[in-house]
Amino acid sequence: MQITPVSNALGANVSDVALDELTDDEAAQLVEAWSAHGVLFFRDQHLTPNQHKAFARRFGDIDINRFFSAVDGHPEIAEVLKEADQTANIGGGWHTDHSYDPAPARGSILYAHEIPPIGGDTCFIGMGAAYDALSPPMQDMLGSLTATHSGAHVFGRQSPHRERTADRIGNPDAVRDDVSHPVVIAHPDTGRPMLYVNPGFTTKIDGLTIQESRALLGFLFEHCQRPEFQIRFEWAPGSLAMWDNRSTWHFAVNDYHGHRRYLHRITVAGSELAAAF
Ligand code: SIN
Repeated sequence: MQITPVSNALGANVSDVALDELTDDEAAQLVEAWSAHGVLFFRDQHLTPNQHKAFARRFGDIDINRFFSAVDGHPEIAEVLKEADQTANIGGGWHTDHSYDPAPARGSILYAHEIPPIGGDTCFIGMGAAYDALSPPMQDMLGSLTATHSGAHVFGRQSPHRERTADRIGNPDAVRDDVSHPVVIAHPDTGRPMLYVNPGFTTKIDGLTIQESRALLGFLFEHCQRPEFQIRFEWAPGSLAMWDNRSTWHFAVNDYHGHRRYLHRITVAGSELAAAF
């Protein structure tokens, strides 16, 4: 098995491995590589839904998503689908899966079935690199803060997005209370400080005025989107990406109207997050 980094900020390509025949030794290498690189990319895999689940369970329990439609007979596998005649996609904004949960998901494992001829890439950002690039005074200030995360404005009854994706995302009553997490977490596996706010689900910095919170989140969201913290993955059928939700953001690019895009996503359960300092 070869593990080749794709940028200084995050990401690695993994080759010479068949995920349906993974050995314990290869699985141990992937656990380490996942924490080190944040997102791992694989090509030409052949996974049935049961094999996809078995692969995911190498990394923890499966966290069943409360809102996405599931694959028939496999409630653990969420469908990430955009039909040729639909215009709204799923995940078309920078976000971190499940940050609205008290114990956010460790990671997500997305496996491609149908991919448009051009477009439909996924972009990723490395939150460790984004944190490292901040000045020490800014790092100090952020280290003492927590932020509120909510799923209500995305998945709840009042969500402006609901109508456009109601055929694929539902169960609005499963939205739970907002939660707070440290703005700078210690990565649960490596201890590395990571910025842990995201444009999708972070609604405010606790204790600041609305104006202060808006300004600080606005700055952080813009800072994180600098090109040197980003990579982009071009899918093909059989590609698989697994990303660590504690150390990355992702964004599904919606540039393929008129074509079907269909993937299976499994989310691996995580733990409560602790402040880095
Ligand atoms: C997601 O946000 O989980 C979907 C990502 C993608 O479709 O590329």
